[in-house]
Amino acid sequence: MFVESNAPLQPHNTFGIVARARTLVRVRGPEDVHAVLAHPELGPEPKFVLGGGSNIVLTGDVKPVVLKVEVPGRRVLEEGPKATIVEFGAGENWHEAVAWTIEQGLGGLENLALIPGTVGASPVQNIGAYGLELQDRFESLDAIDLMTGREFSLDAAQCAFGYRDSVFKHSPARDSDFGLAGRALILRVRMRLPKPWKPVLGYLDLQRKMTETGVTHPDARQIFDWVCAIRTAKLPDPRVIGNAGSFFKNPTVTPEQCQDIIAREPNIVHYPMPDGTMKLAAGWLIDACGWKGKSVGQAGVYEKQALVLVNRGGATGGEVVTLARAIQTSVYERFGIRLEPEPVVV
Ligand code: EPU
Repeated sequence: MFVESNAPLQPHNTFGIVARARTLVRVRGPEDVHAVLAHPELGPEPKFVLGGGSNIVLTGDVKPVVLKVEVPGRRVLEEGPKATIVEFGAGENWHEAVAWTIEQGLGGLENLALIPGTVGASPVQNIGAYGLELQDRFESLDAIDLMTGREFSLDAAQCAFGYRDSVFKHSPARDSDFGLAGRALILRVRMRLPKPWKPVLGYLDLQRKMTETGVTHPDARQIFDWVCAIRTAKLPDPRVIGNAGSFFKNPTVTPEQCQDIIAREPNIVHYPMPDGTMKLAAGWLIDACGWKGKSVGQAGVYEKQALVLVNRGGATGGEVVTLARAIQTSVYERFGIRLEPEPVVV
């Protein structure tokens, strides 16, 4: 086990915020977790699991022991008649994992290309884009309990996936077992890629690509390339401008609330959901409040997509949080809607 003290976290969070971990341990497999748990000083300390750092805002140095997940591995686990099961170590870069499946001729994950972060973080917030969510392709995962060191597996139902949500985002309630936040470290994730492959092309941006190019029957690689192009045009590259992707979830409202808002704001972007509720585009709401391009200190609202907050250089986590709160207040005052942040504030 390799323990670093006072380790810089700036390279490990996509916002590029300067902060340090009092103690950082790189986890390449379950044996490293067992070693931490058995360690006389580190064992009893609180732990903080860090993947690619693409969904966190650091507001100061991190005192719990940081477990930086670097479990490697990618393989085809099973070739069945109805699906191919692929397995990845939790530390693999998500986009590289998707690109690898495409190189193997395996379609199914292409709509999720270029999402920053690691494979291990993908089930935590049930990543989603361009009409597909991780839960649509998820098979199972292996994790380790940070209290007991016990290894366990979860299937999709046990992960309790929701929109940008899972069991890993909930703390156990006092009188129930539900919730694994802070409790589990994901080691491996398995994905089910259905046979025959079917494209997912319902999202408006992909429809536009088909019209523009005249390609009406794209293969998985073509969709992968389109998604990469769409994301590159709209979203800032965290290697160039620090950010954590969408900063807020798209809120849902009742059809009555939606009608009420449409009466006042006829152009509001809204989508009906299968459960009868209406989803509103948070980016549109923030944009309508005039936030595009605005800043608090060095934290700003991205010029091309108001849902993304960016680090213009040297932003602190405090500035990001202040900007986020100001946005929430103005959206609430104008639309009566409370925006919920996506990233975890640490
Ligand atoms: N819009 C505006 N102004 C803006 C931003 C968006 O008017 O500044 C409008 C767009 O014109 C569009 C609508 O809002 O009509 C939705 O925008 P977009 O298609 O860009 O998607 P989104 O709802 O902003 C969601 C996900 C993204 C994902 C895209 C594509 C959430 C919180 N975000 O964004 O996920 O890539 O759809 O599927 O659900 C992420 O979670 O980090 C992320 C980037």
